[in-house]
Amino acid sequence: MKNEHYQQAFYTDAYYNPWDFVIDNYDIKSRSRRLWVKDEIYAELVKKHFVGDGGNCNTILDVGCGAGTLSILLADWFRVYSLDFSRAMLERLKLRVKELKIDGSTLIQADNQRIPFKDSAFDGSFCKFALWPVSNPEWAIEEMVRVTKQYGRIVILEVDRRTEEYKSNLRTKVVYSSYKALKRVIRIHKQKNKTVHDDAAWKLIRDTTKNNPRINLEFIRALLEDNGCEIISVDTTIKEEIDGFMGKLCGGQCGGHNYFLICAKKGITE
Ligand SMILES: C[S@@+](CC[C@H](N)C(=O)[O-])C[C@H]1O[C@@H](n2cnc3c(N)ncnc32)[C@H](O)[C@@H]1O
Repeated sequence: MKNEHYQQAFYTDAYYNPWDFVIDNYDIKSRSRRLWVKDEIYAELVKKHFVGDGGNCNTILDVGCGAGTLSILLADWFRVYSLDFSRAMLERLKLRVKELKIDGSTLIQADNQRIPFKDSAFDGSFCKFALWPVSNPEWAIEEMVRVTKQYGRIVILEVDRRTEEYKSNLRTKVVYSSYKALKRVIRIHKQKNKTVHDDAAWKLIRDTTKNNPRINLEFIRALLEDNGCEIISVDTTIKEEIDGFMGKLCGGQCGGHNYFLICAKKGITE
């Protein structure tokens, strides 16, 4: 049964994973990323759920870590294991780990719908915006719960992607198109082929995932509860905190979208 998980992933072409071509967007050293989002605030938000309220986590798994902005920031407090499907994302993370002299980080190239760790291997696991790219988020959540120890924490950050909810407002469209046009001019000037790769990769990601309109807070809450977790907190105001300058200009990161953080404890207390 579990062997089917690989075949069910959106990207089965071993020679072209579109995420390999959008790594700059997820790099802790990307200056343009900082214009949009404050990663340090994300790290604080996640950290407080792993240490506070009986969390007491030491080892945590970053599921769909990308180039590892959060893995890097959280490594000050935890022993972080970083898992992603994309080899290029992990290579970038490896480079940053080396440059920033981060101790004891472990990188794993794997599908988050089939996590290659034994049951209860971690004190906590978290996933930031890496459920929507997969065809079976149910499996990814089941796997996150499985590899988390009893009474450990599972933290998920996502966006409500139901078609009606996942619409950018006009202000965002204008700001974002102007930003993209400017970025394109700078990139074409610096490195001719890059924009072409990026655009093709994003198009493939959008076309295959359709932005995953199944993802929303209630869907994820139900999956966590079905897997024997107790929901201990839900925060739907995170986007107000994490916006960088451009995010604020849009009136909210990727304006109008509904961001949420949900934290669950594995196992129900009587
Ligand atoms: C939107 S990015 C988020 C990255 C990171 N968590 C962050 O917030 O900066 C989605 C990530 O999910 C990864 N991904 C996509 N499908 C995956 C899968 N089946 N298993 C593991 N990772 C996957 C991509 O490679 C990408 O790094």
